[in-house]
Amino acid sequence: MSSPIVAPSILASDWGKLRDECKAAEDAGADWLHLDVMDGHFVPPITFGPDVVAVAKDAVQIPLDVHLMIEQPERHLQAFADAGADSISVHVEATAHLHRTLQQIRKLGCKAGAALNPATPASSVEAVLDMCDLLLVMTVNPGWGGQSFIEPMLAKVSELHAAVKKTGAKAVVEVDGGINAETGRRCVEAGAGVLVAGTYVFGSGDYASAIKSLK
Ligand code: DX5
Ligand code: ZN
Repeated sequence: MSSPIVAPSILASDWGKLRDECKAAEDAGADWLHLDVMDGHFVPPITFGPDVVAVAKDAVQIPLDVHLMIEQPERHLQAFADAGADSISVHVEATAHLHRTLQQIRKLGCKAGAALNPATPASSVEAVLDMCDLLLVMTVNPGWGGQSFIEPMLAKVSELHAAVKKTGAKAVVEVDGGINAETGRRCVEAGAGVLVAGTYVFGSGDYASAIKSLK
């Protein structure tokens, strides 16, 4: 089993020193930075938009993995690509035109991801597997950091991983929510290739050890 890509989520970092926090995660061995964009509609909280993505872009060299928890994400793709997103994931529940939205993301030169809420089945992305670079399985309900991992999501990770292998698609399964060394290991065993971790990394006193333990 190869070691996973580790993407700390800045949601759990200290935003008063955001640049330093991004840099600290990079220096501690993060492969990507995960940026959680929330609009107060698709999920209750509001976080930040493209301007903050641009701050992170300026602070680090590693890829920026932008997770859009917003309604009608197609209206904002250009702005996030311009701000420096390397990958953009949209929720399948938030767009009426998933196929076209994924196409648009790739056309902007970004990796395209489809994110699935816990109650959304793996079959929802069956028809667009070859258009996805990332399949983002929410292992908590989106909106907040620090929640507990939802166990049955492991089966969804396996199912998606198997579907990718079967069809010869190239998508990588990413997991997000409640990830620590233990849940992360089990997700990787089930077929995940990218681990997002907010609280586990930024809530620890030692970012490097936390990231190392996820690998
Ligand atoms: C939740 C976000 C996650 C969040 C994960 O809506 O998508 O990326 O930051 O936080 P932890 O790792 O604390 O569960
Ligand atoms: Zn996220």
